[in-house]
Amino acid sequence: MNGIFYFSSTGNSLFIAEQIKAELGGEIRYIPKFTGDVNVYDKIIIVSPIHSYGLPTLVYDFIANMKSAKPLYIVLNCGGLQANAPYFAYQLCKDTGLNIRSVQVVMMPEIYTLTFSQPKFAIKSALRKAPESLIPVIAAIRDDKEIIIPKPKKDRWTSKHLENREKWHMLATHFNITEDCTDCQKCIRICPVGNIKRENERIIFGDQCVACLSCYHRCPEKAIVYKNRRKKDRYINPLIQETNIGADQL
Ligand SMILES: Cc1cc2nc3c(=O)[nH]c(=O)nc-3n(C[C@H](O)[C@H](O)[C@H](O)COP(=O)(O)O)c2cc1C
Ligand code: SF4
Ligand code: SF4
Repeated sequence: MNGIFYFSSTGNSLFIAEQIKAELGGEIRYIPKFTGDVNVYDKIIIVSPIHSYGLPTLVYDFIANMKSAKPLYIVLNCGGLQANAPYFAYQLCKDTGLNIRSVQVVMMPEIYTLTFSQPKFAIKSALRKAPESLIPVIAAIRDDKEIIIPKPKKDRWTSKHLENREKWHMLATHFNITEDCTDCQKCIRICPVGNIKRENERIIFGDQCVACLSCYHRCPEKAIVYKNRRKKDRYINPLIQETNIGADQL
């Protein structure tokens, strides 16, 4: 059976995981909550967003701690700038001694929108193209096609990935809560690392953020703002059920 492991803040990676399950079968497992043994699965498929030209912290740690000889396939997705993320992922798997077969990338709507707004037409266009762009990606997994990622040339993004990673844990300390907060505490429940708490009747952010932006996008009142910017655009993938983000599908 396939084990389809995913991390997802706003549902783009979950959408891909669900498409893979629909075509190839298997169990969908949410990486931050997984405590079992990946080796119960015949094929291991990891679906992850690209964060700052590389892997999100929790996905990086999951791969770095994996011990398995099972065929491994990675499907990354991003808003348009993959830079050397596929190579980082491939190399991490090689360094960890894993049986990496392919790293593929699919374009999805951009969610790193703290300081700019993604135009609606771009979101629509990415969502419209996604199912078709997944066809060859899923076929390559089904057919066990090996895709070797060559060592990349130097670029200006690679060093940025490492630089940004150093600062991620502090990102949420730049969030403010507006008067629109209804104290529903959803943000506390969905944070994948328990970085949000309630103290003195107020929502507060700690310094263990992994910069996933789940809380920012999924607060029902849009009450979490970045550096007091009063932007109102938020995104949740409309092709999945939001309540499934963070859940397994067995
Ligand atoms: C912290 C952070 C960093 C990101 N960095 C990149 C990036 O370097 N290049 C890119 O194209 N998209 C980047 N994105 C956008 C996501 O990769 C993209 O929107 C993805 O589809 C989100 O998937 P999800 O809904 O499953 O979390 C970033 C998003 C976040 C939250
Ligand atoms: S999810 Fe939004 S409205 Fe609910 S407690 Fe958090 S900040 Fe307040
Ligand atoms: S505080 Fe928000 S952005 Fe940071 S890890 Fe938690 S949910 Fe993600």
